[in-house]
Amino acid sequence: MQFLDFTKKVVLITGAATGIGANAARYIAKLGGQMALVDINATGLNEVVEQIKGDNSPNALAIVADVTEDSERIIAETINHFGRLDVLVNNAAIGSEKNIMDADISDFDRMMNTNLRSIVILTKLAVPHLEKSKGNIVNVSSISGIVPVKYAFYGMTKAALDQFSKSAANEFGPRNIRVNSVNPSFVLTPMFENAFTAEEALRLKNKCKERYPIGRMGRTEEISAAIAFLASEAASFITGVQFAVDGGAISAGAHYLN
Ligand code: NAI
Repeated sequence: MQFLDFTKKVVLITGAATGIGANAARYIAKLGGQMALVDINATGLNEVVEQIKGDNSPNALAIVADVTEDSERIIAETINHFGRLDVLVNNAAIGSEKNIMDADISDFDRMMNTNLRSIVILTKLAVPHLEKSKGNIVNVSSISGIVPVKYAFYGMTKAALDQFSKSAANEFGPRNIRVNSVNPSFVLTPMFENAFTAEEALRLKNKCKERYPIGRMGRTEEISAAIAFLASEAASFITGVQFAVDGGAISAGAHYLN
């Protein structure tokens, strides 16, 4: 048996139109996964689905939906189309470069809603299906869930998400569902490009080069590899971990790039 084989596995990924989610969708589809892909960005999502179908992958379904509003429809469309769910990858999130005094409380509410509340709801809806398939959940968090970064509100959503992942791992273990977290440091994606001014983005890239032991930002496929590993049978004895994919940022104390 191939451990990194997703044949006959139905994998639902949120935020799959761009960045890490889009890359992970293509990556797991190449390993045989049947993909239920969710995003509010219909154009980007349909492109990813077409690419996957063009790669001769078994199946890919676009679910244009907002994770903060459409959880029930997301699970229902997945089950109606594929009949099962094996892996839930909670990846959709929004970022903000603002510090505490500059950010509005509405920024905080928006981020908590998207990065945390929606995941709690989707998880509760997915668990009965994951229990049947002995499936698992991978939550895409951030090193900011583990160590402080400059952007407090974003970091708070990820720290809370990590606690949720660990509690869920404990609660769902006896139901044969694993729950793990992937915690990237900076990765070049639309989120990174949109969150910062060009000047700040360049400063951060240079800081990563200077201070991360691996000497650069992460690449989307490096995060996809970690997601695929944790979601696969290769990780059958792993649950409740925060898997930092960070070029050594945490171990070098290089997370707070001021
Ligand atoms: P991205 O902005 O490129 O992609 C996020 C996707 O989520 C977008 O396609 C967006 O349309 C979708 N999305 C946002 N809100 C949504 C909603 N309400 N409903 C449905 N879809 C929604 O972001 P990126 O960088 O690929 O981030 C993916 C994950 O990785 C996020 O959880 C992020 O916090 C995490 N991360 C990213 C890092 C980075 O440096 N890029 C570093 C650490 C963690």
